[in-house]
Amino acid sequence: MRQPLEHLLLPAICLAMLLSSDAAGCTDAASSEEKPAACGTDAAADEDAAGGGGQTCSQRERESCPRPDIDPSGYLIFCLCMGRFGNKVDHFLGGLAWAKRVNRTLVLPPWLSAEGSAPYETLFSVDAVRRYHRVITADDFMRQVAPLVWPPEKRVGMCYVRNHGDDCKMVHGQPFGSFWRALGIEFVREIPYTFTYHATDAFNATFPPSRYPILALKGAPASYPVNAGHRDLQRHLVWSDEMAAEGRAHVLRLFGGHRFVGVHLRNNYDWERACAGVHRYTNYMSSSQCLGDRPPVGAVTAEMCLPSPAEVVRATRRAAIAADAKFVYVASDRDPMLAALREGLADLSAQVVHLDRKVAPVRTEVDLVVLAMADHFVGNCVSSFTAFVKRERDVRGKPSSFFGIDE
Ligand SMILES: *[C@@H]1O[C@H](CO)[C@@H](O)[C@H](O)[C@H]1NC(C)=O
Ligand SMILES: *[C@@H]1O[C@H](CO)[C@@H](O)[C@H](O)[C@H]1NC(C)=O
Repeated sequence: MRQPLEHLLLPAICLAMLLSSDAAGCTDAASSEEKPAACGTDAAADEDAAGGGGQTCSQRERESCPRPDIDPSGYLIFCLCMGRFGNKVDHFLGGLAWAKRVNRTLVLPPWLSAEGSAPYETLFSVDAVRRYHRVITADDFMRQVAPLVWPPEKRVGMCYVRNHGDDCKMVHGQPFGSFWRALGIEFVREIPYTFTYHATDAFNATFPPSRYPILALKGAPASYPVNAGHRDLQRHLVWSDEMAAEGRAHVLRLFGGHRFVGVHLRNNYDWERACAGVHRYTNYMSSSQCLGDRPPVGAVTAEMCLPSPAEVVRATRRAAIAADAKFVYVASDRDPMLAALREGLADLSAQVVHLDRKVAPVRTEVDLVVLAMADHFVGNCVSSFTAFVKRERDVRGKPSSFFGIDE
């Protein structure tokens, strides 16, 4: 599919470089450090054009026209917009697996939270996820790739709709609007489709990379909770150096090298509502992490979903004794139950600590780093925040248990 060069903004020599294959001598590792200015047209993904060059590139030309490697198999970008951090990670892992399946480079989405939008790489290592599949940061994508293959007038968004005739409303409502806006993306057109993300052949047939180099999906092509087969992808989510250092600093300051148990108490008001009537379910949210994929009806209990203070003390005591821990670290979205835990663990001379965000601002994700480092972890089986910790500990061979389950 040859596309007209209607967006030609550059000297012909730049264009020739962009369209020529690497064999023409235009690859230049040194220039990849720089953030190039918009240097071309939408034609870079046109496979017919490749190899038509044979130009040689002078040093000056290389400097003025650094050539990003455009992936001829295309790119995938999706709004990581559902739920809180734990749910988003479930979607991210599935989306990562899907990107590999459809063989498109994944644009690493920013992490949206109540605290704002954080680039992917502020939380996690890009190199680590790249060991699994081709990825690009959203920033590099917008600066280096989008100007070449996805100029503003070509920005089409795609979405799943239940019924023919429904609209995508790509940027309708929150957080969809702010996600795309934060990246500087506006859509000129939206294409709804009615097949699910499982139908990868339909995607390929409807949106071939030659015509749609960028697949911009309204939602993650993934399930929540994460498909059990994708849990192991957690090993490619490695904390960024900054996050790891911050977690280590807290651990050193709080526990001074002593053994500690990590505890996650998910008990905010939304969760109280979510746990009402929980006994009617077989699996609920992330509960397959402790119940497996086919538990009997009634396997999810109220104590698993919203453990009582007595259950929190029981399970934490047990873990502290088994781990011979001097400290208990509590992460909670509302009530860390410090008084009950201190009283219940008084005879063990184990100190109970908690990072109080009202005292010092700390990112919520720091709790995840610290909990992953604990000698033992007790979590909430229904929670995706716990599920993150459990997966990370599993891939590192560290023990975890759950409230409401007397293993
Ligand atoms: C996947 O994409 C890469 C990069 O574009 C390409 O080199 C490779 O041939 C593709 N693999 C398949 C099976 O299409
Ligand atoms: C997509 O379809 C084309 C033919 O239409 C085929 O050559 C290619 O291998 C398919 N790619 C994937 C990832 O299935």
